[in-house]
Amino acid sequence: MNEAEADKMWRARVLTIFPDMFPGPLGVSLTGQALSRGLWSLQAIDIRSFAEDKHASVDDVPFGGGPGMVMRPDVIGRAVEAARSGVEDLPLVYLTPRGAPLKQEMVRRLADGPGLIALCGRFEGIDQRVMDVFPGEEISLGDFVLSGGELPAMTLIDACVRLLPGVIGAEASLEEESFETGLLEYPHYTRPREWRGQAVPDVLLSGHHENVRAWRHAQAEEITRQRRPDLWERYGHGNI
Ligand SMILES: C[S@@+](CC[C@H](N)C(=O)[O-])C[C@H]1O[C@@H](n2cnc3c(N)ncnc32)[C@H](O)[C@@H]1O
Repeated sequence: MNEAEADKMWRARVLTIFPDMFPGPLGVSLTGQALSRGLWSLQAIDIRSFAEDKHASVDDVPFGGGPGMVMRPDVIGRAVEAARSGVEDLPLVYLTPRGAPLKQEMVRRLADGPGLIALCGRFEGIDQRVMDVFPGEEISLGDFVLSGGELPAMTLIDACVRLLPGVIGAEASLEEESFETGLLEYPHYTRPREWRGQAVPDVLLSGHHENVRAWRHAQAEEITRQRRPDLWERYGHGNI
């Protein structure tokens, strides 16, 4: 790969106290193959290597009291600066339950950009001043609390990487996926034609492409209407 190609590569830099968790699931299947083919790059940076005391501490007790420990701003600050060096255009993303819930449109926007620096919290989270000094995007995986930001970072990176050009062979398959059209996806069927008394819907065996397309679209609408009234309303059918 020449320098110009390397410059264009989508980059993920992950700040974590558990760098050994990476690439983990990102190293297999689609994302793993894309990583080996140089379609994106991954660097896990150990936050602890930026600690300066003899115990390599990254956390301390919270001012004001209360349970748990808080990640120190001085240590994280040095780690963020190191992660940014040479790639100042990469957006900083802090994975936190207080962030905006992750949506496919955010994934699409991040995948269209140069990459991201994912900051993974542990303990009670990160000293607020880090995000005040290094503004970034705060993203949540959902309304639940995990023990660390690494799984959310992997999830976000996985979702971005599969949208990068060349990662998925049949790119048309992306266009029909859940959320891309504003609807959940239609149900899929494969061989055998009959299984445990359940037959594949006739229309899918008809070879009539327009009927198949219409059936799938109707199914996608029905599933979205039943399961996700919020999406259905945004799609423009909430008042039907
Ligand atoms: C135990 S959690 C801290 C939770 C925090 N005290 C709170 O109540 O919001 C430790 C770290 O896990 C990550 N984390 C946990 N749940 C998450 C979620 N739903 N989305 C994104 N990151 C999450 C964050 O990086 C967080 O700093």
